This record gives sequence, C-alpha cells and structure tokens, in this order.
Amino acid sequence: MKHTSWEKSRELYEESKKYLLEGVGSSFHKCAEEEFAMYYDHGKGARLWDADGNEYIDYTMGFGPMILGYAHDKVNAAVAKQLERSSHYSAPTAELGQLAKKMCEIIPCAEKVVFQSSGTEADMYAFRVARAYTGRDKMIKFEGHYHGWADEQNLNFVTDDSKYFGARNNPWKIYNVPGQRKASSDDVVIVPWNDLEVLEQAILKNDNQIAGIIMEPSMFDEGPIPPQPGYLEGVRELCNKYGIVLIFDEVFTGFRMALGGAQEYFGVTPDIAVFAKAIAGGFCMSAVAGKNEIMESGATFSGCFNGNPIATAAGLATLEELQKEGVYEKFQKLGDMFVEGMTELGKKHGIKLYAYMMGSLGGVVFGVDRPCVDVRDYIDNADIKFYNKVYFKAREYGMRLSYRRGRILLCTEHTEEDIKETIDRFDKIFAELAE
Ligand SMILES: Cc1ncc(COP(=O)(O)O)c(C=O)c1O
Repeated sequence: MKHTSWEKSRELYEESKKYLLEGVGSSFHKCAEEEFAMYYDHGKGARLWDADGNEYIDYTMGFGPMILGYAHDKVNAAVAKQLERSSHYSAPTAELGQLAKKMCEIIPCAEKVVFQSSGTEADMYAFRVARAYTGRDKMIKFEGHYHGWADEQNLNFVTDDSKYFGARNNPWKIYNVPGQRKASSDDVVIVPWNDLEVLEQAILKNDNQIAGIIMEPSMFDEGPIPPQPGYLEGVRELCNKYGIVLIFDEVFTGFRMALGGAQEYFGVTPDIAVFAKAIAGGFCMSAVAGKNEIMESGATFSGCFNGNPIATAAGLATLEELQKEGVYEKFQKLGDMFVEGMTELGKKHGIKLYAYMMGSLGGVVFGVDRPCVDVRDYIDNADIKFYNKVYFKAREYGMRLSYRRGRILLCTEHTEEDIKETIDRFDKIFAELAE
C-alpha cells in the first residue's frame, strides 16, 4: 500500500513550469530537495488526493487555513449561498459587521477589527497601527519568527547555520530573498526570542523609539518553539513599562490553539493581534484586531478585496463550527494520543524526539527531547536532516507533512483512527530509516 508513483505530478510540473514561474503558486510549494512540486487534485475532510490518485492523511491543512478539513459542507454551502448574491461589492455588508462582532466576543484583545486578505498585508497594517499610535518608527522582531513576505517583515527567517545570526545581543540582519531592499530593515530591531534580558537591552538601546514588538506567541512557522514559562508575561510587562504596542501575530495560532487563539491559551493579552489562515476556513481573509484606543489611531486601511463577502460567509460558517461544544477538547484528545504515540515510538526506535500539541497545532522535532528555546537552538540542535528523511518517507506512507519544519496541524475531521493509523505509519517509517 506504499505510494511509489508521482509521474502525473512530475508531468504537470514540467508542463506548467514553461509558463508558471517555478511551476508553483508560492515558493514554499516545492522545496529545494524536490525534483518537482506535488500537484494535488482534491481533498475531503482530513484527506488529500494528489494528481496521481495517491491518498494522504494530511497534517499541513493547506498551511493552516483548513481547520475544518477540506471541502467542508457547511463552509461550501455558505459560500454557494453568497455567490448567488454576488462574489464581491467593495462595500461593507451586514455579515461583515456580524463577523467583526463575533471576533470581538471570542478574542481577548479584540474591541475593533479591520479585515484584509492575507497575513502579510495584515502584519503590514499592524506595524502601521503601532507607529500611528505611538508616533515612533522602530519595531522589534524576533529571529525565526515569520510575519509575511514583505521587505520589512521577511528578516532573519530561514537559515541553515546559526552562526549567520551574529551576536545574541546584536544580531545581524538577514535578508531572506534576492531583491529585498536593505533600507527596509532600517527601522527593524532584531532580537532572539525567549530571552527577556536581551529584549530589555534592545529596548533601552533604542530609547523611546520602539513603537511595537511583534511575535508569534508560540513560534510555529519556521519550527515549533513554544514560549518559556513566564516569557509572554515578561514581554507584556516590558511593553507596559516602556509604552510599546505588543502585537501577537496569530496567523497560525489564531482559532487553532484555542478559539480565542494563543492569547486565550496562555492567558496573556496583546494590544493588537493579527489573524489569517484559519479565520475563513480556506478562503482569503485576514484581520487585525485590537483595543479601541490603539485601533482608532488614524491609520487608514485599504484593499479592494477587504471584507469580501465570500470570505466573510466562509468566516462566519467556520466560526460557527468552531464554537460548537467539544471542538477543542477533541483536538486536545487527539493531540495527546499523537504525543504519547510519538514519544513511545521514540523510545522503541531509540530516536530522540520532542512532540507536542496545543489545541490543533503541534509539532515533532528530532534530535532533542525538550522544546527548543529559540531558532538558534533549533538550527543547532534539532536534527532537521533526519526530519526531512521522515518527510519524504511519509509521502510514501500516505501522509502529507510540512517540509523541514516539523509542524503538525489537525482539523476537526481527523479521527482517533487517523491518529492510530498515523502512529502505525511512523513506526514503519522509523523502522525503514534504521535499515
Ligand atoms: C505567523 C505568520 N504570519 C504571517 C504569515 C503570512 O501570511 P500570508 O501567507 O497569508 O501572507 C504567515 C504565513 O505562513 C505566518 O505563518
């Protein structure tokens, strides 16, 4: 039952690439080690089928948005209903107001909401709000945290060797892509995460110039690294002390760690927070939500597709499903099964690993048996090469994982049977890799 053929994907990739840049929709759709991008045909629930007809239990959930699984009936029905009334107006609708109200009810920091279409855009807007509110220009960003692909945000992200980061208390700026404007980082201060001392030093060094501190409240995009106990509380205190706007980028964690996001899960409330991915169950929508005083600082917000009615319908349907009783308890139950199963497999096969699950978001990191502290620790000590071997084997065994990053995402359609089957498949993968 192992998958052995991806010829159709290869063919589609070769043909598309003649016209489609790199043969993909995003540079992250294919990793450097892959000869061709995987092309998918359809999905339902927690399952995906590729162009060759191979079936997968999926743990990427479309990089996050598919929290209700693929082709969810309720979301599809809400979208179909809205389509009859037109896909777009570029004007607010009654439903948009309802969605904003719902977000204010469930997200601790939310008193006002602004909608946009992608996480990158919403992160850019969050920077602007912090600057408008404080009248200051500089932003603190943490190493390894991802806040979208815009020039100013896409710094100190992917690297294979932590020596390129420079000194902990004065990291170099790493530009991740060709064409990135160097001057765009002039107002961004880079700091390692999970270290309150270096953070306060950076604030003091830039006396009264820091508008905002942005972070993934549980680092996830580049690798799963939870905050150390007391860290988020410590950052919150520093922001209060120095009049800095605390921004949680909840693009991944939002609606996934808990209905109210990481801020609900950890009990630490930022001033503003950014949402995207799961917010509209697979449709293009993002949002910035925050306290009235800060959101009303005068930063205007544009975007032809802001508040798009299709995404709004999908968003309302998604939140309605997530508000049903037992959703997050089920995530935790499946998560516990996954963590126990993987930990046992680690012992059985003599593989050092750390697995965790918080709500519907978790990870598996090889080479360590503890959570990594920051991205330097992750790059130096996690066995990313072994993970990548597992990633390719998982494809043969009918599981779709995220390349390099060890991310595990659940949807409401995963079942206990899926998790048992998954552990069984990892057992076979580990045995095969030991041969
Ligand atoms: C934490 C985080 N912020 C921002 C973004 C950017 O969102 P988008 O890809 O929708 O622009 C991502 C995307 O993966 C993300 O993980």
